[in-house]
Amino acid sequence: MNKWRQKFHLEAPIGFLNDPNGLCHFKGIYHIFFQYCPSDAEGNGSKSWGHYTTTDFVSYTFLGEAISPTIPEDSDGVYSGSALIHNDTMYLYYTGNTKEVGDFDYVYKGRGANEILVTSENGIDMSEKKVLLRNIDYPDYCSCHVRDPKIWKEGDIFYMILGARSMDDEGLVLFYQSEDLENWTYLSDFKVNDMGFMWECPDYFTMGDSAYLSISPQGLEANEFKNQNIYQAGYAKVEGDIENLSMGEFQEWDMGFDFYAPQTFDDELGRKILIGWMGMPDADYGSPTVDLGFQHCLTIPRQLCLHVEGKILQQPIQELLELRDISKPIVNGKYTLPFEMEAMIQENEFEIIFDDKLEFKYKDGIVEMTFTQGAYGSDRGTRKAKIESVRNIRVFADTSSVEIFLNDGEMVFTTKFFPDSDVEIRSSNLVGEIYQLKSFIIN
Ligand code: FRU
Repeated sequence: MNKWRQKFHLEAPIGFLNDPNGLCHFKGIYHIFFQYCPSDAEGNGSKSWGHYTTTDFVSYTFLGEAISPTIPEDSDGVYSGSALIHNDTMYLYYTGNTKEVGDFDYVYKGRGANEILVTSENGIDMSEKKVLLRNIDYPDYCSCHVRDPKIWKEGDIFYMILGARSMDDEGLVLFYQSEDLENWTYLSDFKVNDMGFMWECPDYFTMGDSAYLSISPQGLEANEFKNQNIYQAGYAKVEGDIENLSMGEFQEWDMGFDFYAPQTFDDELGRKILIGWMGMPDADYGSPTVDLGFQHCLTIPRQLCLHVEGKILQQPIQELLELRDISKPIVNGKYTLPFEMEAMIQENEFEIIFDDKLEFKYKDGIVEMTFTQGAYGSDRGTRKAKIESVRNIRVFADTSSVEIFLNDGEMVFTTKFFPDSDVEIRSSNLVGEIYQLKSFIIN
């Protein structure tokens, strides 16, 4: 074990982890699949789906690779996708990635994107693969980048949303429909002007009376307070029929350095839960854990709740309270990782400083997360966001990551950090507790 192996965040035992996939609650068990590249900690090998299960989000079982490349249609990777539970069966949909041999750019030519179905009666043993859609089934204005199916049901009809890049380098989503979960017909597409060149990992879901579209767009314009990462992940309220959608304001899910490709699912208790990838593709900052043979983790699961019109709150699921151990009031001093801090803000202004190297401050309506020393954040710099007032904060600090929730999850900052051991905390204007956290258990 090494000091940066996380204590309550899911990682790959070896190699590279990226997107959460196939999230579902099936026959009382939560299944958390993920993009997994055991052969290379930088993700440059063959991708499969890794698999964790849990019943309580405190103890987990790692089941290795659930779906790996085995057919010509997924020979260059079992890419991202989702789960749908129907008639006591788990339906898993993913994109089989293929690359033709030759001199291709693999954007406009040379790549195959196949939507593939696998089913399971027990969540562990998988059926034969069925290829459902191929490049020829997508509109002809699409490039070879079409992927990441998410499925849902409305009335008697099933819908599939796919992320895509057009030949004109515009990001968009495609909608398909089906009555039997196997035969899919094209329904419509949806895009918005000036919203990047590619939309990955789309998710369409409802909360209350509203529908939302979540996407991971690439190529958005940045400013000092928005879209500061190379790629974004966010959501917007959408209105109208699927064939005729309009979209409200795009809100980033997370304002930190490391958050991408989230996916939502409904559990058997009626909660809508979101898990993201704590990583960022093509970022110009890295992670020293690569030298130790692994990289990245998933975020803690966040329950989604509706706030005021159009806004979604992200709240750490309540099972995480089980990890709390002894606590003491917040005072400056050294704390052993992992810990959780929960506090009320005094005077609408505060700061928390980790080891004099990571500053998290709020003043005059601006939140700022800044690494003041390069290696501590492995060259992460500053992220800023605007928020009118801050009333409360929860900080989840693991051995190499922090997730900071403001105002009951109205805004979240997620980042990796790489402290040596215990962390020296200095803070001001916070009144609350710091809880030592127990590690979760992995079987
Ligand atoms: C997002 C993504 C997906 C793709 C997967 C491949 O991080 O690029 O679009 O399916 O990763 O690992």
